Amino acid sequence: MSGASLAGRRLVVSAGPTFEDIDPVRFIGNRSSGKMGFAIAEAAARRGARVVLVAGPVALATPAGVERIDVRSARQMREAVIGALPADAYIGAAAVADYAPAQVAPGKIKKKDEQLTLELVRTPDILAEVAAHPQRPTLVVGFAAETHDVEFYARGKLEKKRVDLIAANRVGVAGSGFESDDNALTVYWRDGARALGPAPKTQLADELLDLILARWPA
Ligand code: CTP
Ligand code: CA
Repeated sequence: MSGASLAGRRLVVSAGPTFEDIDPVRFIGNRSSGKMGFAIAEAAARRGARVVLVAGPVALATPAGVERIDVRSARQMREAVIGALPADAYIGAAAVADYAPAQVAPGKIKKKDEQLTLELVRTPDILAEVAAHPQRPTLVVGFAAETHDVEFYARGKLEKKRVDLIAANRVGVAGSGFESDDNALTVYWRDGARALGPAPKTQLADELLDLILARWPA
């Protein structure tokens, strides 16, 4: 299960959800467990890569030999990821919040009217920014969480964000996806695609690294 070597390569991996604070006691989050990204970081380190793992709030142990940077919000994740460049590859496995509260209330918001409207603003798109960065890694890999028209949306993200590979979660496959130990992915690149799994995320991580290595320019 060890696969081809990544000795001498530097990888930056993002994993987990981001939490966007509303006030000191509340936040907007999502169900990402971080398991896929942590499995990729662990598998890459086992193959000899130097790995920086930028982790959102998750309950997972740091894989052996991995340098971990803990963050909370999308904005913090962006700072940590961009700060970790240059790298040979970026793998964006995090479920980054698309919107965050326009401002964080300094005190706990008190219950008042029947309705409460929160103003949300777009977060930075970390994956697109890494792909457009002057220190762009040789390979930029994204994930795509889709519930329908998986190939259409995944290929759209591949083009729009100018990334090299997109791993789309095949949601709807029994027992796979967020919060699960198993997953099923379809990986798309400009002129190809490959279905991986359903399989444990640890096994998928190795298969994904093999695909990444196969696409590495000589
Ligand atoms: N991503 C990111 N920064 C964001 C949003 C997403 O880096 N602010 C990355 C994710 O880590 C993932 C990829 O972009 O690798 C695709 O995320 P996804 O949520 O599927 O796509 P979005 O572009 O956010 O579009 P939508 O949620 O509307 O499908
Ligand atoms: Ca999104």
